[in-house]
Amino acid sequence: MAAATPTSYTDQIEYTNEMAEFSPEVVEEMRSHVAKYPPERSRSALIPLLFVIQRERGWIDNPGVNYLAKFLNIEVTDVWETATFYSMFNLKPVGRHHIQICKTLSCKIMGEPEITGHICSKLGIKPGETTADGKYTVSLVECLGSCGTAPMMQIGFDFHEDLTIEKVDGMLDELA
Ligand code: FES
Repeated sequence: MAAATPTSYTDQIEYTNEMAEFSPEVVEEMRSHVAKYPPERSRSALIPLLFVIQRERGWIDNPGVNYLAKFLNIEVTDVWETATFYSMFNLKPVGRHHIQICKTLSCKIMGEPEITGHICSKLGIKPGETTADGKYTVSLVECLGSCGTAPMMQIGFDFHEDLTIEKVDGMLDELA
């Protein structure tokens, strides 16, 4: 029987029982996030803990999610629910520079398609792909909350706004 065509993020996740391991320092950091919340609300630390998993493992992988579910004493599906909702969590490995271009209305009207086309053609990849050298990933994401300075994109944790082709070229030159 042919494999089903993936229709969502969750269809693309390879589920295993493997459990990630972390250094005592990282576990302590995780405990410090949990300690900010009342004991009965420890799952409120899920988002900062997902950032720790992403930093330590490069992306949100199944062993990391299994670890978090056990750490917070919640279901694995509870962790995936949050991890798959927010575009800041990477569900597959990304390049050293993750270029996230906003594709929502304001940015689209203000030139997102041209910006995306230019970046992709310069890097030789399509949205959702990573360059062969592992240096760049381009993703199209929903509104990043900076609609007044559209079109915009995020590289790593930094916003780049009021984009023009010239500005984008300068940024890509700096990253090279
Ligand atoms: S529509 Fe692009 S930041 Fe809101």
